[in-house]
Amino acid sequence: VVTDYDDCWLQYDRVDDPDRLSAYRRRCLHAYVSEEGPELRAVRQELRVGLDGLLGREPHLWQHPPRSQDGFLAVGRRDNMEVVRHAVDAAEVDGLDEEGYVLRATEWEGQDCVVVTANTDRGMLFGTFHLLRLLSLGEPIADLDVVEEPRAKERVIDHWDNPFRGSVERGYAGQSIFDWETLPDLRERYWDYARLLASTGINGVVVNNVNTEKPDREGANDAIAGMEGWQLLESENLEKVAALATVFRRYGVRTFLSVNYAAPMLVGDLDTADPLEDDVEAWWKRKADELYERIPDFGGFLVKADSEGQRGPYDYDRDHAEGANVLGRALEPHDGRVFWRAFVYSEHEDRAVQAYETFEPLDGEFHDNVTLQIKNGPIDFQPREPVSTLFGAMPETNVACELQITQEYTGQGVHACSHLPQWEEVLEFDTHGDGEGTEVRDLLVDRAGEGFAGVANVGEDRNWTGHDLAQLNLYGFGRLAWDPTLGSEEVTREWAAQTFGRNPSVVETVTRIQEESWPAVIDYETGGIGLMHMMYNGEARLENHYDPGPEEWPEYTGIAEDGIGLDRTPSGSDYASQYQGPWPARYADPETCPEELLLFFHHLPWEHELDDGTTVIQRLYDNCFEGVEAVRALRERWSALAGTVDERRHRRVAERFDEQVVQAERWRDSLVSYFYEYAGVPDERGRVPLD
Ligand code: GCU
Repeated sequence: VVTDYDDCWLQYDRVDDPDRLSAYRRRCLHAYVSEEGPELRAVRQELRVGLDGLLGREPHLWQHPPRSQDGFLAVGRRDNMEVVRHAVDAAEVDGLDEEGYVLRATEWEGQDCVVVTANTDRGMLFGTFHLLRLLSLGEPIADLDVVEEPRAKERVIDHWDNPFRGSVERGYAGQSIFDWETLPDLRERYWDYARLLASTGINGVVVNNVNTEKPDREGANDAIAGMEGWQLLESENLEKVAALATVFRRYGVRTFLSVNYAAPMLVGDLDTADPLEDDVEAWWKRKADELYERIPDFGGFLVKADSEGQRGPYDYDRDHAEGANVLGRALEPHDGRVFWRAFVYSEHEDRAVQAYETFEPLDGEFHDNVTLQIKNGPIDFQPREPVSTLFGAMPETNVACELQITQEYTGQGVHACSHLPQWEEVLEFDTHGDGEGTEVRDLLVDRAGEGFAGVANVGEDRNWTGHDLAQLNLYGFGRLAWDPTLGSEEVTREWAAQTFGRNPSVVETVTRIQEESWPAVIDYETGGIGLMHMMYNGEARLENHYDPGPEEWPEYTGIAEDGIGLDRTPSGSDYASQYQGPWPARYADPETCPEELLLFFHHLPWEHELDDGTTVIQRLYDNCFEGVEAVRALRERWSALAGTVDERRHRRVAERFDEQVVQAERWRDSLVSYFYEYAGVPDERGRVPLD
């Protein structure tokens, strides 16, 4: 099928090594796939496309074991395939969870076989994608033996897509791919999107924005009259949601909706949404029943309540647990889940302290079907933040870590910025929540109901993500959610090989560019020692959070003539004390606070000396300049790939690097002169203009 959009990492380029190719053909050109549920149709479809590309020949699909061949691939269950029983013991599969699988090479009746098996069709689907990934990477399969299950159960992608308007909040890849006007008609692109998600291990999708109604404060910009996200819950729109769910279901992905807390009033005709009112309880139950009637595997709800103008339980003097639990109870009989966001702040002197103060006292009070969805840091997806203090502080609550796949504050669709190293840093952080060695990633894998949510970067653009290199953030989110112990570099390397081909020097160069992109952005957008939120925040949506605008939010940087940074130690807002183990003391002392977070926790004189004797102001200057140099170096490396990466993608990325260099220079110039204006201390190296 010819489409007008990219295959991303599902390129399935022909295997060039002749020995590998013949080994793969021997075992995979013939595929015996059991006839079962919808996911197995997806398995057959993927094998057709994938093997055709990789093996350079159309695979033969069988409904019984082919006897005349040297070998074959078998995808099915033990109970109806002899070759699977031969390869895998009952105990091995019985012990697997519903998404786990076994991949194993075996010899059966003189044939060389590979078996993919699981307890469920979804397991076999995830296993098939795993096998195809190994083939795409050119891995040997003659001794294949993989037993795998996802570490985190919830791996959900959150679309901030505004239905009926087609715009995407913080989206930089064009309009929404979901066309609510034409649904329930299905676009081909939905199927390919579901393939992309399932291939990374993502198992849930929220199809609409957490902002389900436009609060007035947003201005007239895109306040186009008409349908709002909350309306998807109306009975007449459910068939549209149900149609999308049939697509995702085939790929093992459950469909979720963002809902408005006042839905009983907006969608229903109650005059309250008070969670403790019987009518409200009954309304949510009826709505849940109706949803599951139409979408039996519906995932559940995502809720942004009492945050940035969205309504919530505070309207009725109820707390967040009371607010969330009424939804949890409604979804419980159907095994659905409420993702309740912890992103709250209001007129507090230090916004960082607020989520913890609001939610930590409620530990143990949330219904089992509720998951508290916590952004990685206490502010808002800044280039670098310390880890949110809620991780490790709520042992009796199901928690999910919310990561931003889209690059709202890290260069949007223009700058190269892999978020994987950032996520690795977050996941490895030792919260000491349950004593030393309680890393964030350990806290997300304990129970069903825990895991990851990622804010999508997907849109209608041909390359799906605006910037070709940003496809990694989507791919990497799924892979790290599946297994948060995977390293950033490992995932980047496998993405690069599947996306740009197996040429080792291309893979190496692309991997290095991606790995080094984040540190560069931190340097020129923040100065690299713990400052943040110096982005322009104007009305024009596209420049919003993209251009430099340090003067707009002095409260985020604490800039003054005597120095810079915010005091979050006991003498200030005391955010540092919300941490556990050694962190409160470590962060509270500028001598032991990690340099990269220094000004997040401390207001320091401009000439305060860092470990190596450099002053704060000089370090800020140096980092801003180094960030630009680093981007120039990335651009050079990319440019050297000409001729080894296909021309179209090479040119597109090269053009973006040109623009990124220009923007990075603007950022640098804007920040250094802002710092100089307050500090009055000249740059030792004379690079900052003295006026
Ligand atoms: C950020 C972002 C908003 C978004 C909000 C959220 O503040 O700029 O567009 O609505 O996060 O996470 O809800």
